[in-house]
Amino acid sequence: MTTREINISYTEYDSIGQLSPEDRELATAAIKASENAYTPYSHFNVGAAIRLSNGKIVTGSNQENMAYPSGLCAERTAMFHAAAQYPDAVMETLAIAGCKDGELCRIPATPCGACRQVMAEYQTRGGRPMEIIMVGAEKIWKFSRVDDILPLIFDSLK
Ligand code: THU
Repeated sequence: MTTREINISYTEYDSIGQLSPEDRELATAAIKASENAYTPYSHFNVGAAIRLSNGKIVTGSNQENMAYPSGLCAERTAMFHAAAQYPDAVMETLAIAGCKDGELCRIPATPCGACRQVMAEYQTRGGRPMEIIMVGAEKIWKFSRVDDILPLIFDSLK
């Protein structure tokens, strides 16, 4: 029997100002996108912004529905939008920002499991790592690839 460990490393920043200009632009776009969230039930607004290999930034926000499971998270809204509009572009970096009462959360909002699985598939489709940036007012976490937030990814194509 062997006990194994999975180690994850990521970069933590204390403010958006510490990010590279490109990442700062994406983080800002995610925060801005949260303003378009439709959240009459949770009142938790999430914005997502994706930088594509064609240079475009595509955004999304969470859209809720009275029939709860019919709603969708910000990340999947953005990814499906990107894939539907630009199927040949690679999703290079995805930034997420969660806001409560019109304020960016202090600690970053982290993506749900279903969104991570969808990220994993688009990363595989794109053929290179998708970076993930989780944006909070006091902390920002940057991961180099989806594998780091979804260890032991399900992949039936392997
Ligand atoms: N939500 C997102 O949009 N992204 C996440 O990463 C976590 C949760 C949404 C779903 C729902 O509209 C609200 O936040 C509260 O769970």
